[in-house]
Amino acid sequence: PLISLRQLLDHAAEHDYGLPAFNVNNMEQMLAIMKAADKANSPVIMQASRGARAFANDIVLAHLIRAAIEMYPHLPICMHQDHGNSPQTCLSALVNGFSSVMMDGSLTQDGTTPSDFEYNANVTAKVSEMAHLVGASVEGEIGHLGSLETGKGEAEDSHGFDGELSRDELVTDADEAAEFVRRTEVDALAVAIGTSHGAYKFTRKPDGDILAMDALKTIHAKLPDTHLVMHGSSSIPQELQDIINEHGGEIAPTWGVPLEEIELGIKYGVRKVNIDTDLRMALTGAIRKILAKDRGQFDPRKYLAPGVEAMSKVCLDRFERFGCGGMA
Ligand code: G3H
Ligand code: 13P
Ligand code: ZN
Repeated sequence: PLISLRQLLDHAAEHDYGLPAFNVNNMEQMLAIMKAADKANSPVIMQASRGARAFANDIVLAHLIRAAIEMYPHLPICMHQDHGNSPQTCLSALVNGFSSVMMDGSLTQDGTTPSDFEYNANVTAKVSEMAHLVGASVEGEIGHLGSLETGKGEAEDSHGFDGELSRDELVTDADEAAEFVRRTEVDALAVAIGTSHGAYKFTRKPDGDILAMDALKTIHAKLPDTHLVMHGSSSIPQELQDIINEHGGEIAPTWGVPLEEIELGIKYGVRKVNIDTDLRMALTGAIRKILAKDRGQFDPRKYLAPGVEAMSKVCLDRFERFGCGGMA
């Protein structure tokens, strides 16, 4: 059945596990996630960005969720708006059947500039009030995503802020987080600890200088009952980089968030772990491999089916590593 994010994360907190939240843009991603969840007997969080909604169409996405629910009636499924930038975006997600929304007020509505605390708290509180009226959940974000390695905010596809930010701005402050949760009554809180979206997070295996796991510990001590969310949490496995590069791709050497750091995060109250890039890479690698080997191939099912398998393998690994197996 469709259930809210709050219900899922309360259960995760009670049983000390974390849930991967996978981004969905198409049928293949949905099928891959659901196959793995069924195998692991895990609850599911699927999330759609504004870009995903524009790509797939709201009506198609809504029916994709319905399909997952009908196919797997025994699994609890949350459909979540990823990085909503305004109350309008969040409301239209709810109207389209999402059971949870993220109001990301860490940037101004046009997504180009870090916002101030007052704007973020006010706009998030507004969405929280609205979503709670219909039994949906809300994720807020405090702090600014970006790289502690370069000291820059993250910017992708002309969205985001690529200017300089101080370490204080790039790592969420526990007192500010507590005040934000008090003001907004969010069900889950995304915090900044030096991760960024996409494949290029770190140029080396991250240590405490560039991945601030200690901040999570401090925030969790201050807010033991708040479900924390890690964004930019793809691990960018070397083997996925290799498959792409061995079949005509050009991914520069890079590091993601090591799985053992995520496991540590789960000990510090992280209950939702956002993963998009790892599935993008798994699908791309599988497609490249088939098309490189069989250059006459043009039946999409011949490369999409291995793509689903490759994504599903990543999903199953994350469900198992984060302790979700058997929790449905
Ligand atoms: O927020 C980042 C997610 O990976 C979604 O990315 O906006 O390109 O769909 P997107
Ligand atoms: P990745 O780019 O690391 O997969 O992060 C996804 C994310 O945070 C979506 O909100
Ligand atoms: Zn994110």
